[in-house]
Amino acid sequence: MADITIRPARAVIGSIRLPGDKSISHRYGMLAAIAQGTSRFRNFSTGADCASTVRCMEQLGAMVSKTDGTLEISGRNGTLIQPKEPLDCGNSGSTIRMLSGILAAQPIACQLFGDASLSRRPMSRIIDPLSKMGAEITATDGNRPPLKIKGGKLHAIQYQSPVASAQVKSCVLFAALQADGETVFEEPLRTRDHGELGLRAFGADLTRQKNRITIQGGQKLKAIEAAVPGDISSAAFFMCAAAILPDSNLLVEDLLLNPTRAVLLDVLKALGARISVVSIEEHHGELVGAVKIEHGKLTGLKISGSHAAALIDEIPVLAAIAPFTRDGIEVHDARELRIKESDRIATVARNLRLMGATVEEFDDGLFVPGSQKLRGAEIDPAHDHRIAMAFAIAALRAAGDTLIRHSECAEISFPEFYELLDKVGER
Ligand code: S3P
Repeated sequence: MADITIRPARAVIGSIRLPGDKSISHRYGMLAAIAQGTSRFRNFSTGADCASTVRCMEQLGAMVSKTDGTLEISGRNGTLIQPKEPLDCGNSGSTIRMLSGILAAQPIACQLFGDASLSRRPMSRIIDPLSKMGAEITATDGNRPPLKIKGGKLHAIQYQSPVASAQVKSCVLFAALQADGETVFEEPLRTRDHGELGLRAFGADLTRQKNRITIQGGQKLKAIEAAVPGDISSAAFFMCAAAILPDSNLLVEDLLLNPTRAVLLDVLKALGARISVVSIEEHHGELVGAVKIEHGKLTGLKISGSHAAALIDEIPVLAAIAPFTRDGIEVHDARELRIKESDRIATVARNLRLMGATVEEFDDGLFVPGSQKLRGAEIDPAHDHRIAMAFAIAALRAAGDTLIRHSECAEISFPEFYELLDKVGER
């Protein structure tokens, strides 16, 4: 697959289930490798990013197998082995940042590298706390991959993170789990809490008070069996499609509904889409349920502050559908978007303009006015999975066909995306 043509659609109709959540799969994969016993995961993420994590854990000595859709990871009960080759993290910021937290406490020396996009992304945000814990880490200009980590005994720290990043939080908590003493990690805003819930699911004890998490070092993990809830950031594309296409009626089953991730539901509701949570359960601390989405007349929205952080992965698709709202969508406090797999503020603005829209770009966000028509265009997603998928959704309501170049980049998080879109899209 390379370029793909997306034709306009009248509606999205049907019932869908998504591959397992990427954020949870990364964490389960890493924690399983250091736990005692064999963990079994159904519906593990099918994306290339999580495959990078699993391959790294294999290189570090975990035994991995897949039978009938169940991924088995035999843990090493706390001690990983020296890998023979450098660890390839591919396109995955989650892999390189969170795995660094685990490796910093292991008595081995590792090199971690990634593709061109990952090689541009900032790592000082994890190098700083891990160095304070006693780890030896070097990077290009002290900030960019490749990373060289010489792990060893770590000590606990009290750390106030300057960035609202769940990857940094998990990185520090994974290191703290293996360190001497009690670590306190404070985040400036509440970010996704899969690291905390994952650690608890594997048997670790930790406490949270407001935005402060306290964890005691030296705790051992025990293997788990779990079904990974459907990825809500992947579902976001289909939910946004249902919101903008008039006759849509979509049921998303087994969907992750963790409140730190489900802000999109509130936002789509506030915009005017008809949304109802049909069922809800809890598995290993994570909320999972079925959600029904129907089109409604969409008004407008401002996203800023903690909402911008909570919606960070969904802003590209929200911006891409903003022309179909009445008043548009304005985003601020989302500077982090500029240092994702691509500069997502720039790539969204550029591609919306290619489709004929007016867009105002800010340093920390953008404004996409509403009541605009889009025309089919040739989209360059800059090898960024979420940009390719966001514009495939905008294309459903554009006039004429849209070509998504290098569309295969969707495989980073969601290889089944185009096939599923074809299945539920009604022409
Ligand atoms: C993630 C956290 C977010 C998000 C990324 C996944 C995670 O990144 O954008 O897709 O699983 O913790 P940051 O932690 O850099 O904000």
